[in-house]
Amino acid sequence: MDRYAVIGNPIAHSKSPVIHRAFAQQTGQHLSYEAILGPEEGFADTVRAFAASSGRGMNVTVPFKLDAFALADHLSPRAQAAGAVNTLSFRLDGIHGDNTDGVGLIRDLEVNLHCPLAGKRVLLLGAGGAARGVMQPLLAAQPAQVTIANRTAARAQALAERFASGTDAGKVEGGSFDRLAGQAFDVIINATSASLANDVPPLPAGVYASGALAYDMMYAATPTAFLQAATASGAAHTADGLGMLVEQAAESFLIWRGVRPASAPVLTQLRAMLAEA
Ligand code: ATR
Repeated sequence: MDRYAVIGNPIAHSKSPVIHRAFAQQTGQHLSYEAILGPEEGFADTVRAFAASSGRGMNVTVPFKLDAFALADHLSPRAQAAGAVNTLSFRLDGIHGDNTDGVGLIRDLEVNLHCPLAGKRVLLLGAGGAARGVMQPLLAAQPAQVTIANRTAARAQALAERFASGTDAGKVEGGSFDRLAGQAFDVIINATSASLANDVPPLPAGVYASGALAYDMMYAATPTAFLQAATASGAAHTADGLGMLVEQAAESFLIWRGVRPASAPVLTQLRAMLAEA
């Protein structure tokens, strides 16, 4: 049987096995999917050993996405743009690395949440790996503008410069949270890890345009601190990152098996599990 797995550290609470087993059942694909606790040293050896014992692919999560990027023999354009890999495929010509996080976010926004990004003013909060990982698919969705705001302004500027080329030259800018005063956005995406410290990025009043959507890449059983603050600040709609999690998994499944599973029933199942936990 073809084997798949998610590798991370910690890994016990990963929802990927539940998601991929549901996808396999739904599409009638015969495969196994397990969770592997990656060692602090020896990530590459663990991956190669899995590949050598009927492993066909792996999802990669914190803290190994850069290791997976370094390990891959072949990188997709979106993995190159993200500078990180979350999906490995073991093929005859070597290890292929891809990144489905960004496309997962865009599908959740545009398909599940009915929020087309074309022509929208988008604010991306954070300039770390999570933010970089979604920049290319975000720009490909043709928003009017992408503003990156970060606690460390220089990181936001550097990230903007990296992606501000060609037709996107005038569309991308980066800086501090303070610089947002007087500006309004249609979609505000939280890609910071602030909520891990129970913190919320300091946004000036008025950043939520009329009808705006606040999106948190993190998720929880109850609205995250960021989404609570967004509602209090006038965001018309809010969504957490559970949909992004399911959509990035669906895209990985498509890469591996050549079929796109339906994400909606799995998202419903996960939301119920989260509420019960
Ligand atoms: P990740 O892979 O999750 O993006 P990262 O690369 O460490 O992790 O980046 C974390 C991001 O969250 C950064 O943008 C960080 O801001 P700095 O670049 O200024 O460090 C942001 N972040 C973390 N804690 C934060 C907080 N308490 N308030 C605001 N931003 C925070």
